[in-house]
Amino acid sequence: MKTLKDIDVKDKNVLVRTDYNVPLKDGRVESDLRIRASLPTIEYLKEQGAKKIILMSHLGRPKGWDDELSLRPVAERLKALLSSGRSGALAQVLLPQKTMPSTAPSSPRVQFVDRIAGEEVKQAVEDLPEGGILLLENLRFDSREKENSSELAREIIESTGSEVFVQDGFAVTHRAHASTDAVTKLLPSVAGKLVEREVAGLSKVLTDPERPLVAIIGGAKVEDKSPLIEKFEQLADKILVGGKIAADGYKADSGKTYVAEDFDLDTEGMKLDIGPLSAGKILEELKGAKTVLWNGVLGKVEDPAFSTSTELVAKFLGEHSEITSIICGGDTAGFVEELMEKNPELDYSLVSTGGGAALVLLTGGEMPGLAALA
Ligand code: 3PG
Repeated sequence: MKTLKDIDVKDKNVLVRTDYNVPLKDGRVESDLRIRASLPTIEYLKEQGAKKIILMSHLGRPKGWDDELSLRPVAERLKALLSSGRSGALAQVLLPQKTMPSTAPSSPRVQFVDRIAGEEVKQAVEDLPEGGILLLENLRFDSREKENSSELAREIIESTGSEVFVQDGFAVTHRAHASTDAVTKLLPSVAGKLVEREVAGLSKVLTDPERPLVAIIGGAKVEDKSPLIEKFEQLADKILVGGKIAADGYKADSGKTYVAEDFDLDTEGMKLDIGPLSAGKILEELKGAKTVLWNGVLGKVEDPAFSTSTELVAKFLGEHSEITSIICGGDTAGFVEELMEKNPELDYSLVSTGGGAALVLLTGGEMPGLAALA
């Protein structure tokens, strides 16, 4: 995979695919993990003297133009993050959201344009000062994005005057869309720092993990998680299964798989968290691990009464930085991110921003957005 080190961006307009598919509430960004995760690449491009940086992303799954899914609030948060002056320190560590200013100081360096391509975009790029950053509107407002249209990719490149393409939206690299695939046929294309970091972290688990390698697999849907369990039955030294899949009676095929055996119940007898016996056994296994891959929460974490086991495991891993800990899956990464806000001392090797993409990569599926960077 080609990376930023393989290209010269000085005095060039650089087109960057980010994944700013973030949760919004009342028109504000609720979790900015993915925005913060894009900062190291932006900082690097600025340091290397890129002329103008044009960012593009999707948000949600709109059926057409939909103001509710505009990327404007993301541009505001990006502005706030870059203006806070802390972004330089973010190359390795993601700062807790609470340390960020709650209102965005105005920064002329980040602009937003409510178009994806065309004359307005051309003008916005022209108006951008050197070193400035422009975020385009939600790519999926144009149906050609998901159709992997070269025409759309060409229009974006032409209106932004882009000379190189950086893929930094790891969470969307399992999709073959205009902004992840078609664009790479038209411009020299490399991986950004986030993609590089995520791919390195996840690939090392697959190819050369420090052992013992332990996989913790939870979550709700057994059909989503079976491929991962099967994969890690070949790879890992131990697999620990919790969450709803365990509560629903998952039966392990392999002797190296432990399935949670007791559960915390609600008043109606629903099994909503793994119980103390199972949580204790999982923690015991983790004590001997050198690498831990964790995908899927162990209980119904949106209810604090049933997040105990997930919190115990998350705290254990965050407090043992000698263990390489790779956290993936949207719910698990979201839970850990929230925990880190309250406990900034917790430290993980990688909290992946790639929900579905991480799962596809780990189970050996196709990653068109990465293949295009070879
Ligand atoms: C994600 O959140 O997993 C990515 O942004 C991809 O979104 P999608 O599943 O709508 O393609």
